[in-house]
Amino acid sequence: FKDPFFRDESFFGKYTYKNSPAAIKRFPFPFPEDDYMYSVNMEPHVSGRPGSVFEHAFDVDEHYVSEMRDRARVLADDPLRCQSLPHMTLAGWDLLELIMESFARDYPQWFELHKDGNKWHWINRPLGIDDKFTFLDESTLPYGPMEYITRQAQGDFTLQDQREDNLWIEAGMVTSQADWSLDFDIGMSFHEWHAPVPLAGKMGVFDRALKFLLQLQHGAPVRRFNWTMTVDPLLDTSPENYHKWGPSKTTLSAENIGQRQHLRVELQTLFRLPRSNAIAFPIRCYLISFEDLVSQPKWARRLHRVIKNLPDELATYKGFIRNRPLMIEYLSQFDDGAPTSPGW
Ligand code: HEM
Repeated sequence: FKDPFFRDESFFGKYTYKNSPAAIKRFPFPFPEDDYMYSVNMEPHVSGRPGSVFEHAFDVDEHYVSEMRDRARVLADDPLRCQSLPHMTLAGWDLLELIMESFARDYPQWFELHKDGNKWHWINRPLGIDDKFTFLDESTLPYGPMEYITRQAQGDFTLQDQREDNLWIEAGMVTSQADWSLDFDIGMSFHEWHAPVPLAGKMGVFDRALKFLLQLQHGAPVRRFNWTMTVDPLLDTSPENYHKWGPSKTTLSAENIGQRQHLRVELQTLFRLPRSNAIAFPIRCYLISFEDLVSQPKWARRLHRVIKNLPDELATYKGFIRNRPLMIEYLSQFDDGAPTSPGW
């Protein structure tokens, strides 16, 4: 089969991660306006333009194989990045089914799923996996169902149980997160795990988002973007490893900012699961260096304005208040002051 995957990228150490010209063009630039503020920015997760990151329910791109290797590396170092409370196993099977069916339908050249009742046969060609197992029988897989499938799918995943008119984060695979910890958050409710976020609570964003999510229907997933900034293309920006990556923020300079500063965009989707009634929350991370980003003039212009206009509280929470002046200085070279139009 045709293999479009970078096989030797690293997201740590020498950082050999890079985006191809095609990946730069399809990068999910998240700013429809020159200003950014939190909002309940959810829309139906329907299939988008061919080639875009929205074409399929789950986007598999050129970084797939390398990202899965990075996940295995992080897990070997810290197994608590993957946790599932005992009552969440059924939700894990729901997630396994959702991902396997989506991958096999959308990328038949890479993935195959054959079912004979509960006897399933899964083939993952890029990762060289060919397994036969019994659906809903954990003893027939090498890991629990959530761990098994999320070791084969890009992005972090959390599973939320729904009860008492609330959502509870009670399972997850979290190895490429923007500075939050599954081990710390597990068992929390929607407002509890969002407590560190500035301003949004007072604006009613979380009240409205929760109300909306409690009504989420099976077969009608939704999506939203989140974003932050990361120095070097590091997927694992966890609090657990802050001592390893936090200090790199102090080494940014006018000379290296183009190569080292990355815009980090999360495409977050929400799926109601059919058997467990849980909600799956895939968080797919895309990284782009400033140098690659400014190759698209309208992105450069807009990012300059967004960063300049951003409230201090958000720049502080997102962890780049210290480097904001450097970013503005760098990006200002690419902003000719022309008006921008709404949209991407
Ligand atoms: C941040 C989880 C859904 C809005 C966060 C954080 C977590 C999280 C762990 C980081 C908090 C920290 O600093 O420790 C989740 C989960 C969701 C979910 C598991 C699925 C049920 C939503 C929805 C919204 C939302 C639907 C819609 C408004 C935000 C915002 C932030 C945030 C605005 C701050 C992000 C930033 O500025 O970088 N979320 N979230 N979340 N979440 Fe959610």
